[in-house]
Amino acid sequence: TRTPVNVTVTGAAGQIGYALLFRIASGHLLGPDVPVNLRLLEIPQGLKAAEGTAMELDDCAFPLLRNIEITDDANVGFAGANVALLVGARPRTKGMERGDLLSANGGIFKPQGKAINDNAADDIKVLVVGNPANTNALIAQAAAPDVPAERFTAMTRLDHNRAISQLAAKTGAAVSDIKKLTIWGNHSATQYPDIFHAEVAGKNAAELVNDEAWLADTFIPTVAKRGAAIIEARGASSAASAANAAIDHVYTWVNGTAPGDWTSMGIPSDGSYGVPEGLISSFPVTTKDGKYEIVQGLDINEFSRTRIDASVQELAEERDAVRELGLI
Ligand code: NAI
Repeated sequence: TRTPVNVTVTGAAGQIGYALLFRIASGHLLGPDVPVNLRLLEIPQGLKAAEGTAMELDDCAFPLLRNIEITDDANVGFAGANVALLVGARPRTKGMERGDLLSANGGIFKPQGKAINDNAADDIKVLVVGNPANTNALIAQAAAPDVPAERFTAMTRLDHNRAISQLAAKTGAAVSDIKKLTIWGNHSATQYPDIFHAEVAGKNAAELVNDEAWLADTFIPTVAKRGAAIIEARGASSAASAANAAIDHVYTWVNGTAPGDWTSMGIPSDGSYGVPEGLISSFPVTTKDGKYEIVQGLDINEFSRTRIDASVQELAEERDAVRELGLI
């Protein structure tokens, strides 16, 4: 039998946490034959609700779930962690400036990065879900100098999945027929969902759609502003779809992309495609044996270049702001 994998989830008592934990425990994060230990990290006010969720997890009698630990101490929460899902974050509230948002989140992700550095397992993989995800990942990474930088990733898989779904609806294809879609840049309204290299049942998606106005005025804004549309409709932000994307992100990272396809992940740039080295930006990546690689050699047309540059510019500004705040 395999040794259990230690999975730490922060913000475990939140709405994404509630949608996420049961799928981790049922084997969807890592695979149907991988036992897991869950570590739930919360702030003191969240501990009681996390205990309630743990009771429900017990009540599912998941065969793969070995044990659950609940704590508000990051050193305990990340002890021996193989996978860390950083979901808990400080949301933007009315009237909050970007600087305030970044420093409030710095107060969360800097100590968590250090706790990962000091306590996690050598093979730790980190996914940051809590917003602003890319820059929170950068802050955590900077606080963890002993962990290889590429282990810190940010979630753009929800954007990726949203884009696939929109493209499938537009072309009448099945989602499973859509390959090689890319989200570039920041997980924010400036993100760029790129269909120029995407395929719909083997045909080039941009050529098939053949409608730049739809791309510019419908597709891109629909994907980029989907989070706000969900809040408007549901009265609460995306939770189950965000949890599902977190599951997809880690599952793909660990188990690999399918031949002839790729995915989108926010990862530290190596300078590819003109994205300054070190920025945590979304790229097209293939994964294999627990490692990812940026897909190289794609032609970037003028339409794409402008949009990638704008999103990357925003990431550079966020990086400069957290640098000024002494967070990296
Ligand atoms: P929520 O407010 O329901 O839950 C957040 C939880 O985090 C709360 O239980 C809170 O007590 C906990 N928490 C706060 N600070 C913490 C800390 N220092 N350590 C441990 N736990 C802490 O929020 P929800 O809906 O679950 O969303 C979580 C985050 O995910 C938000 O930042 C949201 O913006 C982000 N998000 C990201 C998406 C993406 O695509 N990257 C998509 C959807 C949401």
